Amino acid sequence: MKKINVGTLISGGGTNLQAIIDAAQSNRISADIVFTGSDNPGVKGLERAQHAGIDTFVVDYSKIIKSCKNGIKEDDLPTDFNFEEIKAKQKLFKAGTPSGQVAFFLKTRAIAEKKLLGHILEYDMDLLVLAGFMRVLTPYFIDRINTLSGRHRIMNIHPALLPSFPGTDGYGDTFRYGCKIGGCTVHYIDYGEDTGPIIGQKAFEIEDKDTLEDVKRKGLAKEWELYPQCIQKFADSF
Ligand code: GAR
Repeated sequence: MKKINVGTLISGGGTNLQAIIDAAQSNRISADIVFTGSDNPGVKGLERAQHAGIDTFVVDYSKIIKSCKNGIKEDDLPTDFNFEEIKAKQKLFKAGTPSGQVAFFLKTRAIAEKKLLGHILEYDMDLLVLAGFMRVLTPYFIDRINTLSGRHRIMNIHPALLPSFPGTDGYGDTFRYGCKIGGCTVHYIDYGEDTGPIIGQKAFEIEDKDTLEDVKRKGLAKEWELYPQCIQKFADSF
């Protein structure tokens, strides 16, 4: 069976990345990992990739966003960035969000995303896997990866049973709500936040004695099973 080429983006520890590396190395999935990119320098996930002989790169989002705080000049933006088009497509902000806030977000992200694309498009990649990548991607980036109409190519893992608890703290939100079942979801990325088509989910029981740490531990163990399975599902349909 043909192997697919998988690119990965991370922000932190990279335990999901490790699960995918292990699955690829032991041929449990028909995939080769061609790069690991991070928005955060010096994270453990980058070390994991390097240890496995995978190319790595960093696009330091915090630095880029900070450098834009004193104003963004037209020249700073990618030449192929059309602000009105991206603003019309995005589903990240509620109607009524101050226009300056939306503009700052979309423009700073496009500057960072252009740099990400500069690295990613060097590779022959079939699927982009977000493995604990904590940055929201805008339509500017998504459209430059999803170039075949109707075909999603960016996968994400979320630490909750979507559509419940989107956002940055899925396990925390699940725990604080008092849920008795938690879970994780692998889905494709679309123009909203954690709203794209669901590929797979796994659930676990939350007992009365469980702490937030227990919930995270149980959840991550499910994530490490689920992500390779969903990548294989993509490879099977490729
Ligand atoms: C995982 O729990 C993943 O679901 C979550 O970040 C963690 C990364 O762990 N992702 C998100 O919240 C995405 N919005 P890891 O770096 O050990 O794989």
